[in-house]
Amino acid sequence: MGEDQGPLRAPVGTKDVLWPESVRWEALVAEFARRAERAGFGLALTPMFEDARLFHRGIGDESEVVGKEMYEFTDRSGRTMALRPEGTAPLVRAYVQHRPAVPWKAWYVTPAFRYERPQAGRYRQHHQLGVEVLGTDDPDLDVEVIALASGFYAGLGLRRVELAVNSMGCGSCRPAYVAALRSYLDEHHDELCDEHRKRYDVNPLRVLDCKRPECRAVTEAAPLITDFLDEPCRAHLDRVRAGLDALGVEHHLEPRLVRGLDYYTRTTFEFTAVALDTAQNAIGGGGRYDGLAEAIGGPPTPGVGFGIGIERLLLACDAEGCFDVVPAAPDAFVVDLTGGECARDLVAELRDAGLMALRAYDDRSLKAQLKLADRSGAAYAVIVGPDERAAGTVTVRSMHGDGDQQTVARGDVVAHLASAVRGRAGGGS
Ligand code: HAM
Repeated sequence: MGEDQGPLRAPVGTKDVLWPESVRWEALVAEFARRAERAGFGLALTPMFEDARLFHRGIGDESEVVGKEMYEFTDRSGRTMALRPEGTAPLVRAYVQHRPAVPWKAWYVTPAFRYERPQAGRYRQHHQLGVEVLGTDDPDLDVEVIALASGFYAGLGLRRVELAVNSMGCGSCRPAYVAALRSYLDEHHDELCDEHRKRYDVNPLRVLDCKRPECRAVTEAAPLITDFLDEPCRAHLDRVRAGLDALGVEHHLEPRLVRGLDYYTRTTFEFTAVALDTAQNAIGGGGRYDGLAEAIGGPPTPGVGFGIGIERLLLACDAEGCFDVVPAAPDAFVVDLTGGECARDLVAELRDAGLMALRAYDDRSLKAQLKLADRSGAAYAVIVGPDERAAGTVTVRSMHGDGDQQTVARGDVVAHLASAVRGRAGGGS
């Protein structure tokens, strides 16, 4: 056994999400599913761990996500596995393996694991909502995907979200841009941050993503990819931007936007929450990855998608004071002073009838049970004392408003409450 390291706690950089905080998670995922399914996306579930080669080949060893942050381990049979650091490569792997009909539109909700330095909005296990579409390079699909994310944010009530869009070009036009950027960085190499001074030449694009002021100052005047796009990439970008304009999705062109994963081609985009601290303000991002399927051994298949960080998104909602989801209150709370059998049976009947019903346990006093009923926020208390039991009745007390009480036959109470609850939902008091 290992050494005693003190009390067991959730690992550094992870957090437990318990009720009632989890109510927002539930509502968020349900809202995302509704929107994604309306746009023809179906849920896809893939394993939490994969053969590590998937991420090495698909995302690239030069990316921080794979090169520095991936949770990689050898399993008991000696295979090198990795906990998924993101959702795109696994879905492309699933596409290549199963070859569903295209365009294949899948949505997902998944934990993602990155060994990062934990801080507010940055975790070692975070959660993403995302979509991926495989099998077409139609720019209208880029528009559809971006609009889906944008509509989702707006639907939560977020108002201060900015969308940056760029193109990473393709295998034909990007090399000339990378060469131009490399020679520009050669001239300024002494001014770069420590890390990039040593390794800017491996992938000069990474310097554009560096947040340190030294690199920022250098990249200010660096060549821009948008000046190097070939005709098809330029036309693709124009069509995407025109589509966003047509749908009223506000955005700006950000020619220095290179995302942290190396599979992107053409469209890339990132949503930032203005209300969050700039270090962790990306609440979602994505783009096209037309070479990814081939890079992992599949047929050439274009693809586009995005991932949205749930934790950061909720932080942004807090910062803007929106999407405050209140847990549902029970329809009925059964107060039983006759030993608990009636409560046991009645909550089961009420739940079977589709109502939310709670009760107290451990034979508590009337006062204690009524307090619990009150605290639960229940619309009605159903009280069963010895007299009611003997008479085959219950007392139904309205907990909101006037505290109105009625005696109802035990056999009629489920129908009575179902109709009372329907009446309340219909606007009654
Ligand atoms: P990503 O930008 O690496 O893209 O992650 C997507 C989102 O996940 C980020 O915008 C952020 O909200 C959240 N996120 C990332 N890392 C962390 C972290 N350590 N803690 C908290 N939240 C985090 C991808 O993962 C791509 N797979 C997106 C994509 C889908 N591209 C095409 N399809």
